[in-house]
Amino acid sequence: MTAQARGLSRRLMLSRSAAVVGASSAGLLLPEIVRAQGNKLKVGFMLPYTGTFAQLGVAIENGVRMAIAEKGGKLGGREIEWVKVDDESEPSKGVENANKLVQRDKVDVLIGTVHSGVQMGIQRVARESGVLNIIPNAGVHAATRALCAPNVFRTSFTNSQPTSALGKPMMDKGLKRAVWITWKYAAGDEAFEGFKHSYTKAGGTIVKELGLPFPNVEFQALLTEIASLKPDAVACFFAGAGAAKFMRDYAAAGLQGKIPLYGSGFLTEGVLQAAGPAAEGVMTTMHYADSLDTPRNNAFRTAYAGQFKMQPDVYAVQGYDAGQLLMRGLDAVKGDIGNKAALYKAMETAVIDSPRGKWTMSRAHNPVQDMYLRVVEKGDNKVLGIAGKAVADSAAGCKLG
Ligand code: PHB
Repeated sequence: MTAQARGLSRRLMLSRSAAVVGASSAGLLLPEIVRAQGNKLKVGFMLPYTGTFAQLGVAIENGVRMAIAEKGGKLGGREIEWVKVDDESEPSKGVENANKLVQRDKVDVLIGTVHSGVQMGIQRVARESGVLNIIPNAGVHAATRALCAPNVFRTSFTNSQPTSALGKPMMDKGLKRAVWITWKYAAGDEAFEGFKHSYTKAGGTIVKELGLPFPNVEFQALLTEIASLKPDAVACFFAGAGAAKFMRDYAAAGLQGKIPLYGSGFLTEGVLQAAGPAAEGVMTTMHYADSLDTPRNNAFRTAYAGQFKMQPDVYAVQGYDAGQLLMRGLDAVKGDIGNKAALYKAMETAVIDSPRGKWTMSRAHNPVQDMYLRVVEKGDNKVLGIAGKAVADSAAGCKLG
């Protein structure tokens, strides 16, 4: 029996016992769907709660919960039971951890994850089990390209989306020779693809690609190499605690203000306090910016800060939109998660009114969204303008839609 079938028979069993009670007390037999809604919907978080991406996991969970709580705390009229697994950003445990939620806990929905390598494990489990998976961060191309699936939806980005808008603003500043540096795993490698394409297309030359294994933060030797290469600019992908350390080390090596530092916006998300003055002047491209002055973003930021006593960042926004998307789907089927055709249709056609601006789903289930050029100014990601309008991933190899 598939996990889906098991979930269904479990629901039927539970609803049948509820129906017996209902029938004996009210003398009625309720329709199956109404009885099924009496059960809680089980939502599993598979996120990093330890390690360099720990704060990203917390921001995502906060965002999901906030979106649902704002609308009464239910999904399609059903109460929610939450379960959590710390995936530690450890790819070798990806399948095992996803199965803790899908096989052991029998979740109806799996929300996760942050790390691209771990997502590959979730992707396998989601494709095999048919359980609904919402990706609130991990940008791995395959998830919405060759390995796309009807039951997998992403509310964040593909790894090359932010950097596909990075090359031109650098060339507009006359920065013609750049060094690229990143963690060597899918997220860094695919971010490089976007950067290489946009920068070389605008006429730039990449003089050197540097890398170190995730989540290593021994940047010293690489920064010494950058100093000796004397490029016009440095571009990079780093995130979480490692990103804060990279900016601090960059400044400590005497490179801040001398060689302009650019990156995909994760570099400066959720880490501005930890990086301190070392982050000032760093320029990035991203599908969100703290300072977006819209009523939607301002209301979101005020509510989030009030509720969680911390400032929201792009991860909180992606989690918030995962909550909104889930709500949209389950409201459309009145909580009947087994009604997959209608559920997926509602999620595919949703226009998400996000703090980042409104966005839609591509046919491969990835956001089509604007990219903003930002600069860190006085500890804030200040928006300078739109660097890419309605940026869509190629969806290469995806057979959906
Ligand atoms: C990823 O591994 O896909 C990843 C992780 C952290 C980010 C962005 C992408 O901030």
